[in-house]
Amino acid sequence: MAGKVFADDILQGKVAFVTGGGTGITGGVARAFAAHGAKLAIVSRKEENLIPQKQYIEENGGECLAIAADVRFYDGIENAIKQAADKFGKIDIVVNGAAGNFLCAADQLSANGFGTVVDIDTKGTFNVCRAAFETLKESKGQILNISATLHYLATPMQIHVSAAKAGVDAITRNLSVEWGLHGIRVNGIAPGPIEDTEGMKRLLMPELKEKTMRKIPAGRFGRIEDVENAALFLVSDAASYINGVTLVVDGGSWLLGTSLT
Ligand code: COA
Repeated sequence: MAGKVFADDILQGKVAFVTGGGTGITGGVARAFAAHGAKLAIVSRKEENLIPQKQYIEENGGECLAIAADVRFYDGIENAIKQAADKFGKIDIVVNGAAGNFLCAADQLSANGFGTVVDIDTKGTFNVCRAAFETLKESKGQILNISATLHYLATPMQIHVSAAKAGVDAITRNLSVEWGLHGIRVNGIAPGPIEDTEGMKRLLMPELKEKTMRKIPAGRFGRIEDVENAALFLVSDAASYINGVTLVVDGGSWLLGTSLT
C-alpha cells in the first residue's frame, strides 16, 4: 500500500467502486483508497479474490462491500452498482481494473480468445461506466480506467490485450467529453512493467528480467504503490481540472519499447 505521500483524509467521505479490486494493481489501488478515507465496494468474478481484501480493509478500520460479478454481463454489474449505492448512499469514484491476459501469438489465437479479452477489458469497462452513469452524475463523480502501454507501439503475443486497451483509451477520451458536461471526470492510468503483479508473473520469464530492466529508463521495475500514488492523485481534488487523460506510469519504458504490464 502507498506510503504516506498524501494526507490521510484526502478521500474522506468518498465511496469508491473498484472492479478487479481484490488482487493485483487494482487491489493495491483499493487498499490505498481505503487508507485515505474512502469506503469501498470491490468487484471480482471470484469471491475467493475478494474475501481476504475485505478482511484486510476492515481490519484496518475501513468499510468494504465485496460483490462477486463478471464485468462482461451488464445485468450483474447494474445490480452491483445498485448494491453499492444502496449501502453507501452514493458512488463517487469508479475504477475499472478488471482485466484478462495471457500471452498468445496472433496466428495461434482463436476468435473466442481475442473476443474474451475484449469483452472483459473493453466491453466490461463500458458496462461499468454505463451502469454507474446516473449515480456518478448525482455525485459529480469520476471514473479511472486502468489501461496499458502495449498498443502505443506494437507488442507481439499481445494483439488481443493491445486492441482491448486501445478501446479502453477511446472510452476514456470519449466519456471525458460526453460526461464532462455532467461534472464527471474520466481519466486513465497506463502502468508499465510493474514488478509484483500476476500479470508480470504470467508475462515475464525470469531469465528475461535483467534484460528487461536494462531497458527501463527509470532503472527499476515499477511497484504497485507507484500506480496507487498516481490513482490517489488523479481522483483527488488536486486533479480537478484533469479530464480525458491516460497517465503513463512506466518509468519511461514504452519510449524504449518495453511495454510489459
Ligand atoms: N492462450 C491462448 N488462448 C487462450 C489462453 C491462452 N493462454 N487462455 C484462454 N484462451 C482462450 C481459450 O482457449 C478460449 O478460446 P476457445 O474457446 O476458442 O478455445 C477463450 O480464450 C476463453 O477462454 P476461457 O478460459 O473459457 O475464458 P475465461 O472467461 O474462463 O477466462 C481469461 C478468461 C481468458 C482472461 C483467462 O486467462 C483468465 O481468467 N485469466 C485470469 C485473470 C487475468 O488474466 N488477469 C489479468 C492479469 S494482467
